[in-house]
Formats: sequence, C-alpha cells, structure tokens
Amino acid sequence: MTSKIEQEIPEVVPTHVAIIMDGNGRWAKSRGLPRLAGHKAGTENLRRIIEASVEFGIKYLTIYAFSTENWGRPEDEVSGLMKLFDDVFNRELAELHKQGARLIHIGRLEGVSQSMKDKIKNGEEITKENKKLILNVAFNYGSRDEILNAVQNIMKKGIEAEDVTQEMIGENLFTSHSPDPDLIIRTSGEKRISNFLLWQSAYSEWYFPEILWPDFGREALLEAIHEFARRERRFGKVEASR
Ligand code: IPE
Ligand code: IPE
Ligand code: MG
Repeated sequence: MTSKIEQEIPEVVPTHVAIIMDGNGRWAKSRGLPRLAGHKAGTENLRRIIEASVEFGIKYLTIYAFSTENWGRPEDEVSGLMKLFDDVFNRELAELHKQGARLIHIGRLEGVSQSMKDKIKNGEEITKENKKLILNVAFNYGSRDEILNAVQNIMKKGIEAEDVTQEMIGENLFTSHSPDPDLIIRTSGEKRISNFLLWQSAYSEWYFPEILWPDFGREALLEAIHEFARRERRFGKVEASR
C-alpha cells in the first residue's frame, strides 16, 4: 500500500516529463480486444495524465504518440490510429485549452495528411498563449531524423564546421523551445529508447513501470515523480570533499 507521504505531491517536481506511451496493443490483447481498442483506451488515459500533470505542477509534458517507424505497422492499424488522432483533436482541443495547456507538435509534417496538418496548426494557433503546461506531441517523430534535420539546417546556413556548437544543435532540434527532459517514463515494462529524444535525454532520469499505458493513471504518475524526487542527479560531477 502507498504511504500517506506518497499520496502527497513531492517538493521537488520534474520540470519536464516525457513519456513513451507503450503497451496499448498488449492491453487490448489481454482483454481479447482488437489492438485499436487499446489505442482508444490509451488516448482516453492521456486526458487523465494531462490533468494530473497540471495538478502536480509539471511545466513541460512530452508524449510519444507516433514514431517514424510506426508507419511500418499493418495498414489497418496505421489508418485506425490516424482516425483516432483526428477524433482526439476534435474532442480534446477545447479541454486542453481550458486547462491552460499549449500544444506544440514535434516531428515532421511531411507525409502527414493535409487534414491532420491543418488540425495540428489550428491546435497550435488556438493554444499558443497558454502558459500552464507545454504539451509537446511527438507525432511522425524520430530522434535520428530530428538530429539529421538539425545538422542539415546548420549546414544550410553555411556555418563553418569548427563553429558548430552543442547549443546550436539543441536550437535546431524540434524541441528547441523546451529544456531537456528531467524524467522519461516508458510504460509497459519495455526498456529501450525506440528513437525518442536521443540528444535531449543525455542526463534524464529513466523510469520503467510495468504498467501498460491505458492503466497508467494519476497515482502511477505520482509514484513516478516520487521516485524522481528520491534520485540523486550528478551530471557527471561529485561534491568536493571537505
Ligand atoms: C503504443 O502502444 C502506441 C503506439 C506505438 C502508437 P503499442 O501499440 O506499441 O502497444 P504494444 O507495445 O504492442 O503493446
Ligand atoms: C515507441 O513504441 C513509439 C511510441 C510509443 C509511439 P513502439 O512500440 O513503437 O516501440 P518498439 O517497436 O517496441 O521499440
Ligand atoms: Mg509497443
């Protein structure tokens, strides 16, 4: 059982939490349902996690919704997912706006349908003044692709090789408006990065709960930030001995 302390919001809360929302397919399978039912349950859970993030005082939430590799799934799953994202936009945008969240897409828009592009642009425009939570939605996102894109942008500006800096690379990533994630959560028990925030996660704390994404609710997020508060971050340094 969780202790009373664990039910309270810890003093130290990560500024930026990123989540690899994994396990929808297995959630559905365990109930004898089609994979898409798991994806639907996953999008419903997202609302709970956004609400809880605002409640806990998290300032940046980055969610991995669809990777550049996910196009390789069976056609009916991909088209079902696209339809689902479309529905989520229609249903959740007003709520998101009401919560004071600003939506920002990270990833490529090339290859995405025109109607989805319009929805993303519209969502970004409507919420652009909101300050409570920055919600980065990684959609058609791959971190290698992002780094490649950053390098290409830098080269197009004609910058000399020896003048390229780490800051410059950071500024040319899709996440340039956000600090590096403090805590990255991957649900479902899988322990891999799957092409997510490779550059930005250099010093992130990782957390791998066994819970499948549709079941990862407010309490589970609270437990994750408690675990974060217990970690000692060193960034490669040690305290000078006295
Ligand atoms: C994550 O759940 C959602 C997306 C990748 C879109 P999965 O669909 O990967 O679920 P599992 O890993 O098969 O259980
Ligand atoms: C990562 O999950 C992508 C998203 C959650 C959107 P995957 O389920 O696609 O990753 P792998 O295939 O298990 O590495
Ligand atoms: Mg998966």
